[in-house]
Amino acid sequence: MVSATAPGKVILFGEHAVVYGQPALAAPVMHLRARAVIDETRTADVNLIAPDLGRSAQLSSARATNPLAATVRVVERHFAKSLSDGYSLSVTSAIPIASGLGSGAAISVAVIRALGTYLGRADALTREDVSLLAYEVERLHHGTPSGIDNTVIAYEQPVYFIRRESGNVIKPFAPARPLRLIIGDTGIRSATKDVVGDVRREWQHDPSRYEAIFEACGRLADAGRAALESGDLPEVGRLMDENHEWLVRMMVSSEALDRLVAAARRAGALGAKLSGAGRGGNMIALVTAETEAAVGEALTAAGAVRVYTSDVG
Ligand code: MEV
Repeated sequence: MVSATAPGKVILFGEHAVVYGQPALAAPVMHLRARAVIDETRTADVNLIAPDLGRSAQLSSARATNPLAATVRVVERHFAKSLSDGYSLSVTSAIPIASGLGSGAAISVAVIRALGTYLGRADALTREDVSLLAYEVERLHHGTPSGIDNTVIAYEQPVYFIRRESGNVIKPFAPARPLRLIIGDTGIRSATKDVVGDVRREWQHDPSRYEAIFEACGRLADAGRAALESGDLPEVGRLMDENHEWLVRMMVSSEALDRLVAAARRAGALGAKLSGAGRGGNMIALVTAETEAAVGEALTAAGAVRVYTSDVG
């Protein structure tokens, strides 16, 4: 038996704008993890099993859209080695799906690492390789992903990220003072692909308005990085608030997200914003030891179906 895990993620600044070449910041959520387990079976096919979803398939007859099958094929191509028989691949995840926390990319990264170990080639897989392979899978599902999710999940470190045709800018960074985030889940599932597609349509309809919004988000990501690196947490919170307002103008927020964001701010959070693709999914609030409990309670009272704490740095 071999296994591997990978964390979830939050976007601190710059979601959506990052798809259009603006800078963004993301951090792993280390204690919410996806896990892939490989067991040898010595049978002529591969069982792909997702017990949380009650799904299973055989690799040989899996649909092209099956994400586990797609990940196996990507790893086969990378190593030029057959991975088409003799084992079962089972994935479980503590990361809620379609909630902006990177569940899909985390599953891909965990599967890629587990397959690398199964082939005895784990040492040959750098984090850059893992990230690029996971990006190939992400592309099948999300159309035009920026690459930030697979990067932060494969690196397991906060990253400053800019999408570039010529090669992405990826700068891992460490905040000067650790951040404590509360993550509040609206419980509303929202497919990243759909929201990214809607933003693309709006951008095509009114490019100058949307480009101004994207640039504002990019400036906030740069300012956010500077504030994080100087340990100015009140400024980080203020910039998160501002980023949320731009995401509202981008039309990717929702009544439930705005309600949770407002509740967190009223309860004393330094700042709060939606995180990820939006419409549903999760929001994040920056808290201190003094405000943490009150913000968590306020989020639950405002309708959050789950509340997590996550430390960055
Ligand atoms: C999703 O976590 C972040 C988005 O910006 C999409 C992407 O970057 O691919 C909404």
